[in-house]
Amino acid sequence: MNKFTISILHRLLHALGQYRIWRIFHELRQINRKGMDNMLEYILNSEMPERPFNYWFLRKYVGDLISSQQGSLALAVPSDVGTMLDEIPSETTSGERRLLWHFFASMWDGSGDVVEIGPFLGGTSRAIALGMAANCKTNSGRLLTFDRFEHYYPPSELKKFVRPMQESGLLSPDALARIGSSSSFLEIYKEIHGVHSYGKRIVPVACPVPDTADQAHKTGPWFHLPPDTACSAFFVDGCKSWFGTKYFMKACCGIARPGSRFIFQDYLQFTCFWLPSFIQRFNECFRLLCYIDQTFVFELIQPLPPERIEAEYPDKPESWDVHTFETLFTGARLAAEARGHREALVKHAIQYGGALAYIGEKDLARSWFTALLRDPIAAGYEAVVQEAAAAPTYRPNEWGGEPIIL
Ligand SMILES: C[S@@+](CC[C@H](N)C(=O)[O-])C[C@H]1O[C@@H](n2cnc3c(N)ncnc32)[C@H](O)[C@@H]1O
Repeated sequence: MNKFTISILHRLLHALGQYRIWRIFHELRQINRKGMDNMLEYILNSEMPERPFNYWFLRKYVGDLISSQQGSLALAVPSDVGTMLDEIPSETTSGERRLLWHFFASMWDGSGDVVEIGPFLGGTSRAIALGMAANCKTNSGRLLTFDRFEHYYPPSELKKFVRPMQESGLLSPDALARIGSSSSFLEIYKEIHGVHSYGKRIVPVACPVPDTADQAHKTGPWFHLPPDTACSAFFVDGCKSWFGTKYFMKACCGIARPGSRFIFQDYLQFTCFWLPSFIQRFNECFRLLCYIDQTFVFELIQPLPPERIEAEYPDKPESWDVHTFETLFTGARLAAEARGHREALVKHAIQYGGALAYIGEKDLARSWFTALLRDPIAAGYEAVVQEAAAAPTYRPNEWGGEPIIL
């Protein structure tokens, strides 16, 4: 186009203004919907490849970032509870901890004990135990909480979490010194919760889940539920591997009756493709009840015997092919789309790329991420897609994980 034409067009656009231009687009779209949609997609992809959309642009023009089916779950908590929920450094959001408090205060049936895996310093343990204490259906029930209680952060990093609690008086003045060169946080955990009445419910157990089948054959003790444990609510934040998830779910589904609730933190964490893989594989057994941020609450709606998990869920993701993962994640994405949940749509797409990378299909994973970055659905999530495109997931090791680099 020559300069003269561009100058005429520019003046015309200026004279018409944004609203009239949009009306013209709208009228043309009534006549040729597909053609105009293609044109818009073309403009978005070619002119705005880095999609510099901010939150308000997305809400106003592209669609609500928040699920169209979002309810108004009362996440307000009594102010003294709120203060306590935000006191401990936690790797969960304040909304997630409030959901846990509400869940255990009013949605939990109050029967038996509660199982938690992966409390770290216990931000989530506190939310669960305080909620249990506020539940009017029961005044009993223990919180059995399992963790490695070590080897999560090296001592220098662990001290960064502990220092503010020592300075504010939540921990004794020698807390940092007691850590020394150890990565263990069991004693710190006990000290944080032991002084409170809710703490009497908590039973910390230093029994991790094995992260690989090979590990499971070596000496434990590995995660196991005490004999005759009765439990209808399981909070999962320590299943940081494919095999660990299988191991934990086999043990818990062995005692869980239909109606039990499984609450997964990190369900949308892009590295943790094993969580939605498990739920999707046994999709007919679980019903999604609610979610906030990356925490998803499912109800077990039919028995899932451990023998079935053993027979139908392999020890390693490599035993499944691309097609299997494609089917599982298409299912997860369709469900997200149906509830208008764009964040889940994008995160499940990333997790599918992670599964591809894990099973060795790195070329496929690379082209999947390239296409995802061009897809308008990922607008607003470019940073996380780019991060995942470099290293979408990890293999478990002694300190958590070894990134898989693409
Ligand atoms: C994301 S943090 C949990 C955050 C915590 N819920 C909070 O409120 O801040 C993950 C936890 O899982 C634990 N973990 C990692 N691998 C584990 C394993 N194999 N078995 C049990 N726990 C494990 C870690 O030690 C860590 O405490």
